[in-house]
Amino acid sequence: EEAAHRKFTQETINLLSSLPKQKAWMRSDYIYQYQNFWYGAVELQGVVNMQRNYKALDSDLIVATYPKCGTTWLKALCFSIINRYHFSTATSKQHHPLLTNNPHLLLPFLDHLYSSTDPNPDLTSCFSVNNHNRLLATHFPLAPLAECIKDSKCKLIYICRDPKDTFVSFWHFIAKIRTKNLENCSLEGFYEQFCEGVVEYGSFWDHVLGYWKMSLQFPERVFFLQYEELKREPNLHVIKLAEFLGHPFSAEELESGGVVEELLKLCSFDHLSNLEVNKNGKLPVLEIGCSTFFRRGEVGDHVNYLSPAMIERLDKITAEKFLDYGLKL
Ligand code: A3P
Repeated sequence: EEAAHRKFTQETINLLSSLPKQKAWMRSDYIYQYQNFWYGAVELQGVVNMQRNYKALDSDLIVATYPKCGTTWLKALCFSIINRYHFSTATSKQHHPLLTNNPHLLLPFLDHLYSSTDPNPDLTSCFSVNNHNRLLATHFPLAPLAECIKDSKCKLIYICRDPKDTFVSFWHFIAKIRTKNLENCSLEGFYEQFCEGVVEYGSFWDHVLGYWKMSLQFPERVFFLQYEELKREPNLHVIKLAEFLGHPFSAEELESGGVVEELLKLCSFDHLSNLEVNKNGKLPVLEIGCSTFFRRGEVGDHVNYLSPAMIERLDKITAEKFLDYGLKL
């Protein structure tokens, strides 16, 4: 029903009728398999339009994630790193855009920019305040994006997360946006789909592997983070992230001012989730309450939702999928 009030181009309608489809969990409509990944109809139109019309600039910075891996956090961090000379990160300074805007508004998703019937949207509003970088984001896998970025030096910032926590977070998120009554949403049904990879933007493991492989091959193009690592050693990773983004912290910033700590505090779960905009605001594009993006923000919450057998099955899939690639989640 989400897709019902969206408009589709004739091309999308034709494509949808030719693709393998599956009834999606908690949706009255379908998800479709296109070039090995699964998408809702709206996102599929986004992929197709993006593949045709998005040409990355060398200076584009794209936050790429599988849903629920830490997108909101990473968007906030990238935004505040890049714009910190214009907007001081001290939370006492009242004019920082993160204080009045949900991070998703500051780094829009290519997925949504390209999903309307205008196949070639204007991206000029995505420029950072220094007018140098366009700040973008996507949940799309690397495969459909690859052609769009191959002639540029644009940079990708990817964050992944333990699939068990990702799954639990995703379950809560979808259940919340599709129904008010969590009891109606079988976790087991969604679990099956997640394990099979037949889920929006799935499979999770193929999504992660696409970006992981590129980060090994082109470390100057892809910065690969793990949610758990970022939680464990935020200072270390944020300093590296700033370097990667081409906006390194100066010796002075690192030595004198607690700038990194301030920035981390500004972007922290506790700080962002308690702002009025994130408690009661709504995102215009998705028509979702901003609070939906803040739940617990912790590592290991899956133990409260998954049986030992469910945990074991997910761990086994992860071990098998990543065995040859030196990645541990
Ligand atoms: P939980 O559901 O486990 O709490 P995404 O931003 O990719 O949609 O991911 C959402 C997950 O990140 C949720 O996880 C959410 O609580 C957590 N999150 C949101 N903002 C965060 C922040 N500033 N720091 C740490 N985690 C955050």
